Amino acid sequence: MNAHRKESARSPGAAMPAVCVAAGLALVLAAQGCHSSATHGAPAPASQHAAAGGAASAIPARAAATFPADWRFAAGKPATIAAHAMIASNSELASEAGVEVLRKGGNAVDAAVAVGFALAVTLPEAGNIGGGGFMVIRMADGRSAAFDYREVAPLAATATMYAHSDGTTGTESVVGPLAVGVPGAVAGLAAASKTFGRLPLREVMAPAIRLARDGFVADSAFSLSVAHARGRIAPYAGASVFLPYGEAPAPGTRFTQPALARTLALIASDGPDAFYHGPIADAIAEEMRNDGGIITREDLARYTAVRRVPLASTYRGYTLYTMPPPSSGGVTIIEALNILETYPSLPPFGTAAYAHELTDAFQRAFIDRNGKLGDPAFVEVPVARLTGKPYAHEVRSTMADHAQPTSRLATTVPEGSQTTHYSVVDADGNAVATTTTLNDLYGSGVFVRGAGFFLNDEMDDFAAHPGLPNQFGLVEGPQNAIAPGKRMLSSMAPTIVLDPGGQLFLVTGGRGGPRIITSTAEVILNTIDYHMDLADALAAPRIHHQAIPDQLRYERNGLTQAVRDSLAAMGYTLGEGQATGTCAAVMRVPGGYAGAVDPRATGGAAGY
Ligand code: DON
Repeated sequence: MNAHRKESARSPGAAMPAVCVAAGLALVLAAQGCHSSATHGAPAPASQHAAAGGAASAIPARAAATFPADWRFAAGKPATIAAHAMIASNSELASEAGVEVLRKGGNAVDAAVAVGFALAVTLPEAGNIGGGGFMVIRMADGRSAAFDYREVAPLAATATMYAHSDGTTGTESVVGPLAVGVPGAVAGLAAASKTFGRLPLREVMAPAIRLARDGFVADSAFSLSVAHARGRIAPYAGASVFLPYGEAPAPGTRFTQPALARTLALIASDGPDAFYHGPIADAIAEEMRNDGGIITREDLARYTAVRRVPLASTYRGYTLYTMPPPSSGGVTIIEALNILETYPSLPPFGTAAYAHELTDAFQRAFIDRNGKLGDPAFVEVPVARLTGKPYAHEVRSTMADHAQPTSRLATTVPEGSQTTHYSVVDADGNAVATTTTLNDLYGSGVFVRGAGFFLNDEMDDFAAHPGLPNQFGLVEGPQNAIAPGKRMLSSMAPTIVLDPGGQLFLVTGGRGGPRIITSTAEVILNTIDYHMDLADALAAPRIHHQAIPDQLRYERNGLTQAVRDSLAAMGYTLGEGQATGTCAAVMRVPGGYAGAVDPRATGGAAGY
């Protein structure tokens, strides 16, 4: 269907500097039980970008990646390469839906909107119209925008709505009707389409409507996802669609969603009003009444997506466009990268020094994230200070050559997985990074009967139980307290990176709660500092620190025993697992674009 081809972005004839860097790393790391991907292919030469997408600029050489010997993913796997345009998402069918729209004459924003609606059909665990998200856009002509279609707390919500009178806490912020925030996805996708798209919504939504009406063949990932979420889905109206005879759709069977097809067709013909003022609003409000929720017609009628100015920052000469609050993702990534930029260069990948420098940068940035960020319409958020270079130097001056406990560093003491990212680049070099979420897999479990979609459980992203960790272990402060109409803080971090010549370099982001932030930052570091090609940058082992719990999390076999011993000796508490999110990305390469999805996740890239 698509003319994209799977092949390595590497080609023979490595540029000297890249070879020297790679050889240097290999020597350093050999002593620590690591192997490199040098045998999988030589790094690509530095070359001029000849494909569509504006003026040429140098593409830095990629170096062979070096992973620990027991690491689960081999280095040197190919990305998907195409000459003109590329889309990477957690559903190959959705990526192809985007390519279909590009081929019809749509631009990257049309394609991103098409992917967003298609994901609501083919990846219902996370893709959605009953949730919300963020879209960062950077057009080839230099315009940029960030669409914020994060959910908001219902008008009847209160800061203490999840507190039980006997002092205990329950699961109401995560499961069931009280967990639902007012959905923003339809408003946001429609706003982006109207402002930057070329094609009418009707054409952009056609592939999603077709996938819902005619169905798609369930693969084992889809079947397993539904089966694992049985407990979440079964109590609500979605059971008749997703667990028809009490079982998940078997792999190989065709899965159709006629009610969702009708809902999408209504949005395509009548626009977002159908969702916020028309029959779909009626269906949501009725579902809420039936199930004991508090979202009303008025909540839906009042919802608006917000166009914001993306945060822009630099890192070693590269320019980043990323999501401002109510996302914490952009601020936290920028703060961490600014701290890391105070080092003239980073230590060899995977070493104890590497883990120490990244961990401390993440720990400090998360301390600020957890205590200082919230919805800027409700609270004062010190974005300029936290993302400024002077602040990074201030923070750096208080860092040591050993671990420092969060409890001693946090000056603001706080009171007290499911999401999907996709990246799109079109033949003109327009780029879109989008992350959208229901929070948990299948959100709150609540399903709008007749309209065919799940509703999110985003209320848990507020400091729903002040002073206590949320489902991601995050402990946040009063900045993120619940208030009617307020947007809950998010970690989603869709990000677009330009190279030092101002040309598009990387479009990325991910899923995984707070680990979105560290995973996205590490993909950026892997491509900029470690010169990895895209597939290696996504496959590389990750580490994570979110201040509380005060632990350096690592992936199994992602740090060698010698490195772990060194880190323990430096005073770190190490924890295996819960160290990573999953990312999807598009990168400019000689002759076009590479697209890849995290090997830890489902999905695929498609281009032409
Ligand atoms: O907005 C947020 O930060 C969360 N709702 C994201 C949740 C998530 O990534 C779960 N996926 N694994």
